[in-house]
Amino acid sequence: MKFTAAAKLFILFGDPVAHSLSPVMQNAALQAAGIDGLYIPWRVQSAGLPAAFESLRGMENFGGANVTVPHKEQAFALVDTLTPEAAAVGAVNTVVARDGHLLGANTDGLGFLRSLHEEADFLPRGKPCVILGAGGAARAVAVSLAEAGAEPLIIVNRTVERARSLAEFVYRKIGTSTTGLALDDPQMPATVRECALVVNTTSVGLNPADHPPIDPSLLQSGALVYDLIYRPRETALLREAKRRGCRVIGGLGMLLYQGALAFELWTGHKPSEAAMRHALVTAVA
Ligand code: ATR
Repeated sequence: MKFTAAAKLFILFGDPVAHSLSPVMQNAALQAAGIDGLYIPWRVQSAGLPAAFESLRGMENFGGANVTVPHKEQAFALVDTLTPEAAAVGAVNTVVARDGHLLGANTDGLGFLRSLHEEADFLPRGKPCVILGAGGAARAVAVSLAEAGAEPLIIVNRTVERARSLAEFVYRKIGTSTTGLALDDPQMPATVRECALVVNTTSVGLNPADHPPIDPSLLQSGALVYDLIYRPRETALLREAKRRGCRVIGGLGMLLYQGALAFELWTGHKPSEAAMRHALVTAVA
């Protein structure tokens, strides 16, 4: 990797960040584009995030930033302006320097929708979809599916209060019929059987020994099963779904597309997605 003392600095804020594949992916994109720049992880606790953001305002060679777990919602409150996507989700995963201001964007939802479209030719409009989990990732997925016309949306979560609160958020923001259910709700099995898309946004599956987050016998052949997890590339959920004749997608595409959109916001140019994908696939292997 080559850069000079005049290099632009691109930063990933998170805690932890050491596991992230964004540095390898974005540095590959910078290099392929011949940009004198460097993308580095900056591990920071929540209490330090305001000062970290303040330091960006005075950094003449600031190129752009990403924000990951657990700071996306806090970052929303620390930027000066928001893109419509970030405003709708209530979270920021990308920061862009614009005329001395910090613009907060969120590319997670568009990255997810593009991945659905390109990897499975899946158009959400009018389709019933189930989202497993009710955290930050679920929020981005739920808002993007609702905006793309999916209906009804069912949010299934271990902690039912979080599922209900996200369902209410989506209904209030977009008007999509959305229900929050507990994992052990008696209505849950029938709901999952009838849906066209099941998206796992929980952390269940990150450990290769994890069982699927729901009983895989509920997955009907023909449904599309999407796991946001990209390492391992095939979670138990995807393995079981495939065995039952479902189409499956892992999280690498969403990671790539949200990163490509962020790169374009920072630089004004489309990155080499081939270089980014190659870097990701090599790193995951
Ligand atoms: P993120 O921002 O990545 O979505 P998060 O806000 O911590 O992370 O959300 C993690 C999600 O995984 C939550 O929906 C969580 O369920 P709870 O709301 O009940 O905590 C879910 N999750 C984590 N571990 C789980 C487990 N062992 N079984 C079921 N769900 C789990």
